[in-house]
Amino acid sequence: MEKVFAAPGNAGTAAIAENLNVPATDVEALGSAAAQKEIDLVVVGPEAPLTSGIVDHFQNLGIPVFGPSKSAARIESSKVFSRRLMEKHGIPCPGGAVFSSYDEASAYVRRQSLPVVIKADGLAAGKGVIIAGSRVEADKALADMMKARAFGSAGDEVVIDEYIEGREVSLIAFTDGRTVSAMVPACDYKRIGDDDAGPNTGGMGSYAPPGFFSAEMTDRVSRDVLLPTVQAMAGEGITYKGALYAGLMISDGRLVVLEFNARFGDPETQVVLPLLKTDLVDVLMAVVEGRLDRMKIEWSPQACVGVVMASGGYPGGYKTGYPVHGLGDVDKDVPVFHAGTKLGDDRRVYTDGGRVLTVVGVGRDIAEARERAYDNVSRIRFEGCYYRRDIALREIDNIKSRP
Ligand code: GLY
Repeated sequence: MEKVFAAPGNAGTAAIAENLNVPATDVEALGSAAAQKEIDLVVVGPEAPLTSGIVDHFQNLGIPVFGPSKSAARIESSKVFSRRLMEKHGIPCPGGAVFSSYDEASAYVRRQSLPVVIKADGLAAGKGVIIAGSRVEADKALADMMKARAFGSAGDEVVIDEYIEGREVSLIAFTDGRTVSAMVPACDYKRIGDDDAGPNTGGMGSYAPPGFFSAEMTDRVSRDVLLPTVQAMAGEGITYKGALYAGLMISDGRLVVLEFNARFGDPETQVVLPLLKTDLVDVLMAVVEGRLDRMKIEWSPQACVGVVMASGGYPGGYKTGYPVHGLGDVDKDVPVFHAGTKLGDDRRVYTDGGRVLTVVGVGRDIAEARERAYDNVSRIRFEGCYYRRDIALREIDNIKSRP
Protein backbone atom coordinates (compact mmCIF):
# COMPACT_ATOMS: atom_id res chain seq x y z
CA MET A 1 0.00 0.00 0.00
CA GLU A 2 1.56 3.28 -1.09
CA LYS A 3 -0.81 5.91 0.15
CA VAL A 4 -3.99 6.33 2.16
CA PHE A 5 -6.68 8.98 1.64
CA ALA A 6 -9.43 9.81 4.13
CA ALA A 7 -12.71 11.62 3.48
CA PRO A 8 -13.33 13.89 5.23
CA GLY A 9 -10.74 12.74 7.81
CA ASN A 10 -9.59 14.38 11.01
CA ALA A 11 -6.36 15.38 12.74
CA GLY A 12 -5.46 11.71 13.29
CA THR A 13 -5.87 10.70 9.66
CA ALA A 14 -4.01 13.86 8.60
CA ALA A 15 -0.90 12.38 10.25
CA ILE A 16 -1.02 9.14 8.24
CA ALA A 17 -3.10 9.95 5.17
CA GLU A 18 -4.13 12.74 2.82
CA ASN A 19 -7.46 14.17 3.92
CA LEU A 20 -9.88 14.85 1.08
CA ASN A 21 -12.18 17.76 1.68
CA VAL A 22 -15.29 15.81 0.66
CA PRO A 23 -18.17 14.99 3.03
CA ALA A 24 -18.76 11.26 3.60
CA THR A 25 -22.34 11.68 2.35
CA ASP A 26 -21.48 13.17 -1.08
CA VAL A 27 -21.33 9.94 -3.04
CA GLU A 28 -20.84 11.58 -6.46
CA ALA A 29 -17.98 13.80 -5.27
CA LEU A 30 -16.31 10.84 -3.52
CA GLY A 31 -16.49 8.83 -6.74
CA SER A 32 -14.89 11.69 -8.71
CA ALA A 33 -12.16 12.13 -6.09
CA ALA A 34 -11.38 8.39 -6.06
CA ALA A 35 -11.16 8.29 -9.85
CA GLN A 36 -8.99 11.41 -9.98
CA LYS A 37 -6.61 10.11 -7.29
CA GLU A 38 -6.53 6.64 -8.94
CA ILE A 39 -7.51 4.99 -5.66
CA ASP A 40 -7.19 1.18 -5.81
CA LEU A 41 -9.42 0.22 -2.87
CA VAL A 42 -12.18 2.14 -1.12
CA VAL A 43 -13.25 1.14 2.41
CA VAL A 44 -16.58 2.59 3.52
CA GLY A 45 -16.99 3.28 7.25
CA PRO A 46 -20.38 4.68 8.28
CA GLU A 47 -23.92 3.47 7.65
CA ALA A 48 -25.32 6.58 5.94
CA PRO A 49 -23.28 6.33 2.70
CA LEU A 50 -23.75 2.53 2.66
CA THR A 51 -27.50 3.06 2.90
CA SER A 52 -27.47 5.61 0.11
CA GLY A 53 -25.70 3.19 -2.24
CA ILE A 54 -22.08 4.34 -2.23
CA VAL A 55 -20.82 0.79 -2.86
CA ASP A 56 -23.04 0.37 -5.92
CA HIS A 57 -21.75 3.73 -7.20
CA PHE A 58 -18.08 2.71 -6.85
CA GLN A 59 -18.80 -0.67 -8.44
CA ASN A 60 -20.38 1.12 -11.42
CA LEU A 61 -17.22 3.24 -11.69
CA GLY A 62 -15.09 0.06 -11.66
CA ILE A 63 -13.31 1.03 -8.42
CA PRO A 64 -12.77 -1.88 -5.96
CA VAL A 65 -14.78 -1.20 -2.81
CA PHE A 66 -15.10 -2.94 0.57
CA GLY A 67 -18.64 -2.79 1.97
CA PRO A 68 -22.14 -4.06 1.27
CA SER A 69 -24.33 -2.82 -1.58
CA LYS A 70 -27.37 -0.68 -0.86
CA SER A 71 -29.66 -3.72 -0.86
CA ALA A 72 -27.29 -5.72 1.39
CA ALA A 73 -26.95 -2.78 3.80
CA ARG A 74 -30.69 -3.09 4.48
CA ILE A 75 -29.69 -5.57 7.17
CA GLU A 76 -28.85 -2.43 9.18
CA SER A 77 -30.94 0.26 7.49
CA SER A 78 -34.23 -1.64 7.93
CA LYS A 79 -35.01 -3.35 11.22
CA VAL A 80 -38.10 -4.80 9.56
CA PHE A 81 -35.99 -6.36 6.79
CA SER A 82 -33.54 -7.90 9.25
CA ARG A 83 -36.28 -9.27 11.55
CA ARG A 84 -38.16 -10.83 8.60
CA LEU A 85 -34.90 -12.34 7.31
CA MET A 86 -34.11 -13.83 10.73
CA GLU A 87 -37.66 -15.16 11.23
CA LYS A 88 -37.79 -16.70 7.77
CA HIS A 89 -34.43 -18.45 8.07
CA GLY A 90 -34.52 -19.54 11.71
CA ILE A 91 -31.79 -17.16 12.88
CA PRO A 92 -32.24 -16.66 16.64
CA CYS A 93 -33.84 -13.29 17.45
CA PRO A 94 -36.04 -11.95 20.28
CA GLY A 95 -39.77 -12.62 20.14
CA GLY A 96 -41.64 -9.68 18.64
CA ALA A 97 -43.62 -8.30 15.75
CA VAL A 98 -43.68 -5.60 13.06
CA PHE A 99 -46.29 -2.82 12.90
CA SER A 100 -47.24 -0.07 10.50
CA SER A 101 -50.27 1.10 12.50
CA TYR A 102 -49.95 3.00 15.77
CA ASP A 103 -53.22 1.56 17.12
CA GLU A 104 -52.18 -2.02 16.44
CA ALA A 105 -48.70 -1.44 17.92
CA SER A 106 -50.19 0.13 21.05
CA ALA A 107 -52.72 -2.71 21.44
CA TYR A 108 -49.88 -5.25 21.05
CA VAL A 109 -47.86 -3.60 23.83
CA ARG A 110 -50.90 -3.98 26.15
CA ARG A 111 -50.70 -7.77 25.70
CA GLN A 112 -46.94 -7.98 26.44
CA SER A 113 -45.03 -8.09 29.68
CA LEU A 114 -42.90 -5.01 30.25
CA PRO A 115 -40.42 -3.65 29.42
CA VAL A 116 -40.60 -3.90 25.64
CA VAL A 117 -38.06 -2.71 23.09
CA ILE A 118 -39.44 -0.39 20.41
CA LYS A 119 -37.31 0.09 17.31
CA ALA A 120 -37.90 2.48 14.44
CA ASP A 121 -37.51 0.58 11.17
CA GLY A 122 -34.99 2.96 9.58
CA LEU A 123 -31.83 4.77 10.61
CA ALA A 124 -32.38 7.30 13.38
CA ALA A 125 -28.87 8.45 14.32
CA GLY A 126 -28.69 5.97 17.21
CA LYS A 127 -31.93 7.32 18.78
CA GLY A 128 -34.39 4.90 17.24
CA VAL A 129 -34.37 2.18 19.94
CA ILE A 130 -36.42 2.79 23.10
CA ILE A 131 -36.71 0.45 26.07
CA ALA A 132 -40.18 1.22 27.41
CA GLY A 133 -40.80 0.23 31.02
CA SER A 134 -44.46 1.25 31.11
CA ARG A 135 -47.38 1.42 28.69
CA VAL A 136 -47.32 5.20 28.90
CA GLU A 137 -43.67 5.25 27.84
CA ALA A 138 -44.36 2.76 25.07
CA ASP A 139 -47.30 4.79 23.73
CA LYS A 140 -45.19 7.95 23.82
CA ALA A 141 -42.35 6.28 21.88
CA LEU A 142 -44.80 4.88 19.34
CA ALA A 143 -46.55 8.23 18.96
CA ASP A 144 -43.23 10.06 18.52
CA MET A 145 -42.13 7.64 15.83
CA MET A 146 -45.36 6.84 14.02
CA LYS A 147 -47.53 9.94 14.45
CA ALA A 148 -45.17 12.89 15.06
CA ARG A 149 -42.67 11.23 12.67
CA ALA A 150 -39.69 12.28 14.80
CA PHE A 151 -37.42 10.25 12.51
CA GLY A 152 -39.34 10.92 9.29
CA SER A 153 -40.11 7.82 7.23
CA ALA A 154 -37.70 5.78 9.43
CA GLY A 155 -40.56 5.47 11.95
CA ASP A 156 -43.39 4.60 9.54
CA GLU A 157 -42.91 1.00 10.60
CA VAL A 158 -41.69 -0.22 13.98
CA VAL A 159 -40.45 -3.50 15.40
CA ILE A 160 -41.50 -4.35 18.95
CA ASP A 161 -39.18 -6.88 20.60
CA GLU A 162 -39.33 -8.71 23.90
CA TYR A 163 -36.77 -7.31 26.35
CA ILE A 164 -34.04 -9.79 27.23
CA GLU A 165 -31.66 -9.24 30.09
CA GLY A 166 -28.21 -10.79 29.85
CA ARG A 167 -24.71 -10.13 28.61
CA GLU A 168 -24.15 -8.28 25.36
CA VAL A 169 -21.33 -9.06 22.99
CA SER A 170 -20.48 -7.88 19.49
CA LEU A 171 -19.09 -10.25 16.90
CA ILE A 172 -18.00 -8.79 13.58
CA ALA A 173 -17.05 -10.93 10.60
CA PHE A 174 -15.36 -10.42 7.28
CA THR A 175 -17.46 -11.94 4.52
CA ASP A 176 -17.27 -12.09 0.75
CA GLY A 177 -20.83 -13.36 0.41
CA ARG A 178 -19.88 -17.06 0.61
CA THR A 179 -17.26 -17.43 3.35
CA VAL A 180 -17.53 -15.89 6.80
CA SER A 181 -14.52 -15.26 9.01
CA ALA A 182 -15.34 -14.00 12.51
CA MET A 183 -13.07 -11.48 14.21
CA VAL A 184 -12.26 -11.46 17.93
CA PRO A 185 -15.44 -10.82 19.99
CA ALA A 186 -15.73 -7.50 21.85
CA CYS A 187 -17.96 -5.63 24.31
CA ASP A 188 -18.86 -1.96 24.14
CA TYR A 189 -20.12 0.49 26.77
CA LYS A 190 -23.06 2.52 25.50
CA ARG A 191 -23.99 4.71 28.47
CA ILE A 192 -22.21 7.94 29.36
CA GLY A 193 -21.65 7.26 33.07
CA ASP A 194 -19.80 4.70 35.18
CA ASP A 195 -21.88 1.66 36.12
CA ASP A 196 -23.94 2.28 32.97
CA ALA A 197 -25.65 5.39 34.33
CA GLY A 198 -27.12 8.16 32.19
CA PRO A 199 -28.06 8.40 28.53
CA ASN A 200 -26.83 6.35 25.59
CA THR A 201 -23.90 7.54 23.50
CA GLY A 202 -22.12 6.36 20.37
CA GLY A 203 -19.93 4.26 22.72
CA MET A 204 -17.66 5.24 25.60
CA GLY A 205 -15.25 2.32 25.55
CA SER A 206 -14.76 -1.30 24.64
CA TYR A 207 -12.61 -4.34 25.28
CA ALA A 208 -11.71 -7.59 23.57
CA PRO A 209 -11.98 -10.49 24.08
CA PRO A 210 -14.61 -10.89 26.84
CA GLY A 211 -13.77 -13.78 29.18
CA PHE A 212 -17.40 -14.99 29.20
CA PHE A 213 -17.46 -15.55 25.43
CA SER A 214 -15.46 -18.64 24.53
CA ALA A 215 -13.95 -19.67 21.19
CA GLU A 216 -16.75 -22.27 21.02
CA MET A 217 -19.31 -19.46 21.30
CA THR A 218 -17.64 -17.65 18.42
CA ASP A 219 -17.85 -20.84 16.35
CA ARG A 220 -21.49 -21.23 17.33
CA VAL A 221 -22.37 -17.69 16.24
CA SER A 222 -20.48 -18.16 12.97
CA ARG A 223 -22.38 -21.41 12.32
CA ASP A 224 -25.86 -20.42 13.60
CA VAL A 225 -25.98 -16.69 12.86
CA LEU A 226 -23.36 -15.17 10.57
CA LEU A 227 -23.10 -17.84 7.87
CA PRO A 228 -26.86 -18.51 7.70
CA THR A 229 -27.47 -14.75 7.41
CA VAL A 230 -25.08 -14.36 4.50
CA GLN A 231 -26.53 -17.50 2.87
CA ALA A 232 -30.09 -16.27 3.44
CA MET A 233 -29.26 -13.02 1.70
CA ALA A 234 -27.55 -14.89 -1.15
CA GLY A 235 -30.74 -16.97 -1.46
CA GLU A 236 -32.66 -13.73 -1.98
CA GLY A 237 -30.22 -12.64 -4.68
CA ILE A 238 -28.19 -10.29 -2.44
CA THR A 239 -24.42 -10.79 -2.19
CA TYR A 240 -23.26 -9.46 1.17
CA LYS A 241 -19.62 -8.33 1.04
CA GLY A 242 -17.83 -6.42 3.74
CA ALA A 243 -18.00 -6.42 7.52
CA LEU A 244 -21.10 -7.94 9.10
CA TYR A 245 -21.67 -6.98 12.74
CA ALA A 246 -23.91 -9.03 15.00
CA GLY A 247 -24.97 -7.41 18.29
CA LEU A 248 -25.79 -10.43 20.46
CA MET A 249 -27.43 -11.06 23.81
CA ILE A 250 -26.63 -14.14 25.88
CA SER A 251 -29.13 -15.01 28.55
CA ASP A 252 -29.10 -18.34 30.44
CA GLY A 253 -27.49 -20.14 27.52
CA ARG A 254 -29.95 -18.59 25.03
CA LEU A 255 -28.26 -16.54 22.34
CA VAL A 256 -30.16 -14.04 20.18
CA VAL A 257 -29.31 -11.34 17.66
CA LEU A 258 -30.38 -7.89 18.90
CA GLU A 259 -29.21 -6.09 15.78
CA PHE A 260 -27.07 -6.33 12.70
CA ASN A 261 -24.83 -3.54 11.47
CA ALA A 262 -23.54 -3.46 7.91
CA ARG A 263 -20.09 -2.21 8.87
CA PHE A 264 -17.31 -2.32 11.44
CA GLY A 265 -18.78 -1.44 14.87
CA ASP A 266 -17.59 1.52 16.86
CA PRO A 267 -15.83 1.49 19.36
CA GLU A 268 -15.45 -2.32 19.13
CA THR A 269 -13.31 -2.21 16.00
CA GLN A 270 -10.73 -0.04 17.79
CA VAL A 271 -10.06 -2.96 20.17
CA VAL A 272 -10.43 -5.73 17.59
CA LEU A 273 -8.25 -4.69 14.66
CA PRO A 274 -5.10 -4.05 16.76
CA LEU A 275 -5.24 -7.84 17.39
CA LEU A 276 -5.23 -8.69 13.67
CA LYS A 277 -1.87 -10.20 12.74
CA THR A 278 -2.62 -10.69 9.03
CA ASP A 279 -2.20 -7.62 6.83
CA LEU A 280 -5.59 -5.84 6.81
CA VAL A 281 -5.34 -4.79 3.16
CA ASP A 282 -4.79 -8.44 2.14
CA VAL A 283 -7.97 -9.42 3.99
CA LEU A 284 -9.99 -6.54 2.52
CA MET A 285 -8.84 -7.42 -1.01
CA ALA A 286 -9.72 -11.11 -0.46
CA VAL A 287 -13.25 -9.98 0.47
CA VAL A 288 -13.57 -7.67 -2.52
CA GLU A 289 -12.26 -10.35 -4.91
CA GLY A 290 -14.38 -13.13 -3.41
CA ARG A 291 -11.53 -15.41 -2.31
CA LEU A 292 -11.88 -15.29 1.48
CA ASP A 293 -11.98 -19.11 1.55
CA ARG A 294 -8.30 -19.13 0.55
CA MET A 295 -7.26 -16.55 3.13
CA LYS A 296 -5.81 -17.58 6.48
CA ILE A 297 -6.55 -14.81 8.96
CA GLU A 298 -4.49 -14.81 12.14
CA TRP A 299 -5.28 -13.07 15.43
CA SER A 300 -3.09 -12.26 18.39
CA PRO A 301 -4.01 -13.98 21.68
CA GLN A 302 -3.51 -10.62 23.48
CA ALA A 303 -6.24 -8.35 24.85
CA CYS A 304 -7.23 -4.74 24.17
CA VAL A 305 -9.06 -2.10 26.20
CA GLY A 306 -10.24 1.14 24.57
CA VAL A 307 -11.21 4.24 26.56
CA VAL A 308 -13.11 7.02 24.79
CA MET A 309 -12.18 10.58 25.77
CA ALA A 310 -15.16 12.88 25.17
CA SER A 311 -16.01 16.57 25.32
CA GLY A 312 -17.66 17.55 28.64
CA GLY A 313 -21.45 17.69 28.23
CA TYR A 314 -21.62 14.97 25.54
CA PRO A 315 -24.05 13.36 24.59
CA GLY A 316 -25.88 16.63 25.34
CA GLY A 317 -24.48 20.02 24.34
CA TYR A 318 -20.72 20.55 24.43
CA LYS A 319 -18.10 23.01 23.23
CA THR A 320 -15.32 22.24 20.76
CA GLY A 321 -12.17 23.97 19.55
CA TYR A 322 -9.99 23.23 22.59
CA PRO A 323 -6.34 22.25 22.05
CA VAL A 324 -5.50 18.63 22.85
CA HIS A 325 -2.31 18.36 24.91
CA GLY A 326 -0.09 15.39 25.63
CA LEU A 327 -0.54 13.29 22.49
CA GLY A 328 3.24 13.25 22.10
CA ASP A 329 3.59 11.72 25.59
CA VAL A 330 1.62 8.60 24.69
CA ASP A 331 3.63 5.35 24.42
CA LYS A 332 4.56 4.62 20.82
CA ASP A 333 2.80 1.22 20.82
CA VAL A 334 -0.49 2.59 22.18
CA PRO A 335 -2.92 3.37 19.36
CA VAL A 336 -4.89 6.60 19.74
CA PHE A 337 -7.83 6.66 17.33
CA HIS A 338 -9.13 10.12 16.52
CA ALA A 339 -12.85 10.82 16.07
CA GLY A 340 -13.89 14.46 16.67
CA THR A 341 -10.56 16.18 16.13
CA LYS A 342 -9.27 18.68 13.59
CA LEU A 343 -5.92 20.11 12.70
CA GLY A 344 -5.68 23.84 13.32
CA ASP A 345 -3.92 26.31 11.01
CA ASP A 346 -1.10 26.14 13.58
CA ARG A 347 -0.86 22.33 12.91
CA ARG A 348 -1.99 21.59 16.46
CA VAL A 349 -4.78 19.13 17.29
CA TYR A 350 -8.11 20.62 18.46
CA THR A 351 -11.33 19.00 19.70
CA ASP A 352 -14.04 18.96 17.06
CA GLY A 353 -16.80 16.63 18.26
CA GLY A 354 -18.48 14.84 21.15
CA ARG A 355 -16.29 11.78 21.17
CA VAL A 356 -12.75 13.01 20.60
CA LEU A 357 -10.26 10.13 20.95
CA THR A 358 -10.11 6.43 21.81
CA VAL A 359 -6.94 5.34 23.60
CA VAL A 360 -6.28 1.61 23.26
CA GLY A 361 -4.09 -0.39 25.61
CA VAL A 362 -2.84 -3.74 24.34
CA GLY A 363 -1.60 -6.30 26.86
CA ARG A 364 -1.16 -9.97 27.69
CA ASP A 365 -4.57 -9.90 29.36
CA ILE A 366 -7.42 -7.47 30.01
CA ALA A 367 -5.88 -6.26 33.29
CA GLU A 368 -2.60 -5.28 31.61
CA ALA A 369 -4.39 -3.77 28.61
CA ARG A 370 -6.62 -1.74 30.92
CA GLU A 371 -3.72 -0.42 32.95
CA ARG A 372 -1.91 0.67 29.79
CA ALA A 373 -5.03 2.35 28.39
CA TYR A 374 -5.75 4.39 31.53
CA ASP A 375 -2.08 5.20 32.11
CA ASN A 376 -1.92 6.75 28.64
CA VAL A 377 -5.32 8.44 28.96
CA SER A 378 -3.95 10.29 31.99
CA ARG A 379 -1.24 11.86 29.81
CA ILE A 380 -3.76 13.49 27.42
CA ARG A 381 -5.59 16.65 28.42
CA PHE A 382 -8.13 19.03 26.93
CA GLU A 383 -10.59 21.41 28.50
CA GLY A 384 -13.69 19.64 29.80
CA CYS A 385 -12.33 16.19 28.97
CA TYR A 386 -14.55 13.36 30.23
CA TYR A 387 -14.08 9.58 30.23
CA ARG A 388 -15.52 6.59 32.01
CA ARG A 389 -13.34 5.06 34.71
CA ASP A 390 -14.87 1.58 34.65
CA ILE A 391 -14.15 0.31 31.14
CA ALA A 392 -13.39 -3.45 31.32
CA LEU A 393 -13.46 -3.31 35.12
CA ARG A 394 -16.08 -6.05 35.33
CA GLU A 395 -13.67 -8.44 33.54
CA ILE A 396 -11.03 -7.82 36.21
CA ASP A 397 -13.61 -8.17 39.00
CA ASN A 398 -14.77 -11.46 37.42
CA ILE A 399 -11.21 -12.78 37.35
CA LYS A 400 -10.57 -11.72 40.94
CA SER A 401 -13.78 -13.29 42.20
CA ARG A 402 -13.07 -16.64 40.54
CA PRO A 403 -12.15 -19.39 43.04
N1 GLY B 1 -21.20 -0.27 18.70
C1 GLY B 1 -22.34 -0.32 17.88
C2 GLY B 1 -22.28 0.45 16.63
O1 GLY B 1 -21.22 0.64 16.05
O2 GLY B 1 -23.28 0.91 16.15
